[in-house]
Amino acid sequence: MELAAEIRDLHKYYDLGAVIVKALRGVSAEFPKGDFVAIMGASGSGKSTLLNILGALDRPTHGQYILGGADTSVLSDDDLSAIRNEMIGFIFQSYNLIPQFTVLENIAVPLQYQRNGKGVGVSEMNWCTELAERVGLSDRLDHRPTQLSGGQQQRVAIARALVNDPQIILADEPTGNLDTETEAEIMQVLIDLNNEGRTILMVTHETSVAGLAKRQLHLSDGQKVFDGVATSQTVMPGSLPGAGISSPPTSSVSDGGDVYSVDGADGDDGSGNDWDS
Ligand SMILES: Nc1ncnc2c1ncn2[C@@H]1O[C@H](COP(=O)(O)OP(=O)(O)OP(=O)(O)O)[C@@H](O)[C@H]1O
Ligand SMILES: [Mg+2]
Repeated sequence: MELAAEIRDLHKYYDLGAVIVKALRGVSAEFPKGDFVAIMGASGSGKSTLLNILGALDRPTHGQYILGGADTSVLSDDDLSAIRNEMIGFIFQSYNLIPQFTVLENIAVPLQYQRNGKGVGVSEMNWCTELAERVGLSDRLDHRPTQLSGGQQQRVAIARALVNDPQIILADEPTGNLDTETEAEIMQVLIDLNNEGRTILMVTHETSVAGLAKRQLHLSDGQKVFDGVATSQTVMPGSLPGAGISSPPTSSVSDGGDVYSVDGADGDDGSGNDWDS
């Protein structure tokens, strides 16, 4: 099983002077290529912190992040940026589009960065047009973000995330600002990308959205409390009685996952304890 990414005993502390916020407290997980993981948990449980580390936008205080087989802790910031640009595409809840740019120009933004503002050529713009078509925006190429619906703006953001043909797509509440119908459309785009073999790691609050992933990873207070395929029987710590989690429609994993106690160890499988120094 080839891994797209792996985290080992990840800790992230924010030193605020008077207090140290322990946003992640020893989280380990493996993310096989082609997985589709929903990262869930209450507000403040560490989801975005984890996603930022997975996206190589931030580094852990302690522990390791292995991306595409490389231990990111030994990489320089420049090398880390390079590997991020090559391997990872980001999608955010608030789309993060540039208002004065057109759809096509927004999609091309990562290429501009890559080329240090030297401008992109015809073949690159053709590729961006292809991506716009792919997400159903071929008739909106010259529109600006304010002229688009929320769902269309998120499609632009998805096309932009695909511009470097990344293996891994990270999404932080990609449907958080969308109505139910548009949410379903955007989720279908993500499912299609996953079916192409891309690994998707997605933060979401919604059990209906999480149910479309192949696997769920639940955080509570900076620790992993569940990692596996959630079923309607799975009751998460702190979840409301009767708040069932629907089964994913397709799943390649047969067991029901592992539920960990909130204050216990993170419950890794013990398959290799040789990484801790
Ligand atoms: N830059 C920062 N400086 C200090 N504390 C931070 C910082 N970023 C996050 N935190 C704290 O770390 C904890 C985890 O935050 P995080 O943003 O990862 O939560 P989350 O699970 O994404 O929450 P939400 O669902 O509200 O987005 C919180 O207690 C938060 O206040
Ligand atoms: Mg968050």
